[in-house]
Amino acid sequence: MARITGSRAGSWPPAASPGRATRVAGDRHNLPVMPGVVIVGAQWGDEGKGKVTDLLADRTDVIVRFQGGNNAGHTIVRDGETFKFHLIPSGILHSDKTCAIGNGVVLDPRILLEEIDGLRRRGVDVGNLRISANAHLIMPYHVLLDTAGEMKLGKLSLGTTRRGIGPCYADKALRLGIRVQDLLDEKILRAKIRTALEPKQQALRELSVRRRKLRKEAGEGADREGGEQAIEDAPDPRLDLHTMTEEHVSYGHRLEPHIADTARLCWDALDAGKTVLFEGAQATLLDLDHGTYPFVTSSNPIAGAATVGAGVGPTDIDEVWGVAKAYATRVGAGPFPTELNEDVGRQLLERGHEYGTTTGRERRCGWIDLIALRYAVRLNRMTALTITKLDVLRGIDPLRVAVRYRSKEGAILDSFPYHQSILHSAVAEYEELPGFDADIEGCRKEAELPPQARAYLDFIADFVGVPIRLVGVGPDREQIVWLGEEPTLRAA
Ligand code: GDP
Ligand code: IMO
Ligand code: MG
Repeated sequence: MARITGSRAGSWPPAASPGRATRVAGDRHNLPVMPGVVIVGAQWGDEGKGKVTDLLADRTDVIVRFQGGNNAGHTIVRDGETFKFHLIPSGILHSDKTCAIGNGVVLDPRILLEEIDGLRRRGVDVGNLRISANAHLIMPYHVLLDTAGEMKLGKLSLGTTRRGIGPCYADKALRLGIRVQDLLDEKILRAKIRTALEPKQQALRELSVRRRKLRKEAGEGADREGGEQAIEDAPDPRLDLHTMTEEHVSYGHRLEPHIADTARLCWDALDAGKTVLFEGAQATLLDLDHGTYPFVTSSNPIAGAATVGAGVGPTDIDEVWGVAKAYATRVGAGPFPTELNEDVGRQLLERGHEYGTTTGRERRCGWIDLIALRYAVRLNRMTALTITKLDVLRGIDPLRVAVRYRSKEGAILDSFPYHQSILHSAVAEYEELPGFDADIEGCRKEAELPPQARAYLDFIADFVGVPIRLVGVGPDREQIVWLGEEPTLRAA
């Protein structure tokens, strides 16, 4: 059995590896380097990272988001009350912890302020929120370009969240990005917006002409999705340099108390022996480099990216906790070898409430894919796995788990293929395991889980070779089962 066998399993904060325990943090404070823990999505997103982050935040000092933007939707349910976060780290409900939005995040200031206001209205203190001065801003033209790009692709569209993520990261790489610190200097802000805006206006104008032509050909009254109106009826007031600058200066005033050097904040915490939790968004198979390109997001959600996106070194990371559902889901287009289009898929959708937190779209559902999961385990070098939504599988018998793919030519593939054509036509092959009928939502101990559920977890852990530490048996924060020793609460 592969569960709880890791040499470092069973303690919190995780013990630093032997090599590290003897080192000192840059010799500055002569303190041992203490743990950094990454929470990473192991599938195609929406695995329950928010819930796991909130849970582990209890035992943590700093929680930092390191990539993605408000394409993410992280849900926390506490005593039946639901919180949904898009940009704010899922540790924010712990008023004694510091929450940081790292430099690797792309941030829509309007959305962030809405999120802050929403939390304040619910009595949540956000005074402990810090925002990297180096994080890039999603500007109104990025959102318009995202929608325009998807419209242009038509049937070939990626199914993005249309939140401007891709165009914003593109501008960052082009060195045309606007950063959080620019909000604090009107002159710089105006100049940067002017430079960035000009090519966008031209691109959007061309697209608008093209759209108008297409609409004319299709006849008036053709359905138009949100955002299209704005693109077609240029000039859009949101693209006015003066308005945009004014608006963003006022965002800057409101965000100023939160703007900080978040990398230093992480260093100080780590060097002082505190625990830093790096909260991933999206997931491994949506990774720009290692996911199912081009059906991916525009950042690197894998654990290694926590270093770049938060500004720490690789040796600051001690543990990588992957989060996977007991089955699989995907939102948007792209290959999904274990997808189910019949009854069981429908059952998973309805029982698991598989509707996007950000866009409300139906998520595609399927069996758990252990070939893809094993790939994610290795790519992130996970030290532990969390399996969520086990409760959703109740009453499904037999349970199927994908253990290999078969290629179009009949070859057996027991690892995740790097070639897109092979992956697109790969057919998953399954092992069947007995299902369970009992309601497990009330289970809190491993021994209370039905033997079939435990056998299912054992099979997953054995196959992917990493211990399962935590199992989700319902949406609420309390609905969890620790496998093996429960981490003790860390004294801050
Ligand atoms: P994230 O993006 O990875 O944080 O995940 P989302 O919040 O988008 O989606 C996960 C959904 O599953 C949310 O609605 C959670 O409340 C819910 N959830 C998390 N863990 C469990 C679980 O163990 N059982 C059930 N039934 N729901 C869960
Ligand atoms: P969390 O953090 C699930 C998907 C989109 C689309 C692709 C590219 O809640 O798990 P983008 O807007 O990023 O350019 O879209 O990525 N996607 C997600 N799917 N969960 C997410 O975040 C996602 N963020 C992006 O559906 O297929
Ligand atoms: Mg989500």
